[in-house]
Amino acid sequence: MRSITCLFALLLLAGQAFALTIDVGGTLGNVTASDFLNVTDTYLLTDCQTQCNNATAMINTCATNDQCLCGPSTVTAITSCQQCMFDDLIAKFAESTDPRAGSATALTAYAAACLASVNITVPTSYITLTLAPDWDGPYGVHLGVPATVLTVAVGTLLGGGALLLLSNI
Ligand SMILES: *[C@@H]1O[C@H](CO)[C@@H](O)[C@H](O)[C@H]1NC(C)=O
Ligand SMILES: *[C@@H]1O[C@H](CO)[C@@H](O)[C@H](O)[C@H]1NC(C)=O
Ligand SMILES: *[C@@H]1O[C@H](CO)[C@@H](O)[C@H](O)[C@H]1NC(C)=O
Ligand SMILES: *[C@@H]1O[C@H](CO)[C@@H](O)[C@H](O)[C@H]1NC(C)=O
Repeated sequence: MRSITCLFALLLLAGQAFALTIDVGGTLGNVTASDFLNVTDTYLLTDCQTQCNNATAMINTCATNDQCLCGPSTVTAITSCQQCMFDDLIAKFAESTDPRAGSATALTAYAAACLASVNITVPTSYITLTLAPDWDGPYGVHLGVPATVLTVAVGTLLGGGALLLLSNI
């Protein structure tokens, strides 16, 4: 029994040594893949449980296999979770201090970790967040909230990636 426990502990340690390390920055610094979607704003995970539970399940299935974590199906699932959180933050006009929540920057960091760890270049199209087609944003005509406030909030919350998206419209 004890040896099994020891073996398990060793496996856990070994896993931590090799698992993908994602530099999401902000208050968190580096996180592992299994923590990547565990955002502090739990309402986002509740709202997005379809996408995020799926992505989390796939991350857990990959465990410490970085090839698997960086594979197209895993990355696509993670992006759809992030996309849902992104939409939810915008829809609720909410703020998140968690650098992982609905963040294009976090996805870019994930891709960077894949390149660094297993030399997999994740195609940009797999990690691109888009604004919902029905989003009545800063460039909309009928604004529910002052356009500048929303622009500043989105820019502050979501970082450079979102600004890039806005400027591409
Ligand atoms: C995150 O990890 C990278 C490499 O794995 C390391 O260079 C960097 O210093 C780490 N950052 C923090 C904040 O620990
Ligand atoms: C998610 O994060 C919280 C606190 O940051 C932690 O208590 C919890 O165990 C984490 N859940 C998973 C599945 O890692
Ligand atoms: C996640 O979604 C993909 C495609 O949408 C599906 O093939 C897969 O079975 C789902 N995985 C889980 C654990 O629900
Ligand atoms: C990484 O992959 C690219 C092509 O995908 C290859 O040209 C390069 O040599 C690889 N680098 C390493 C360090 O394996």
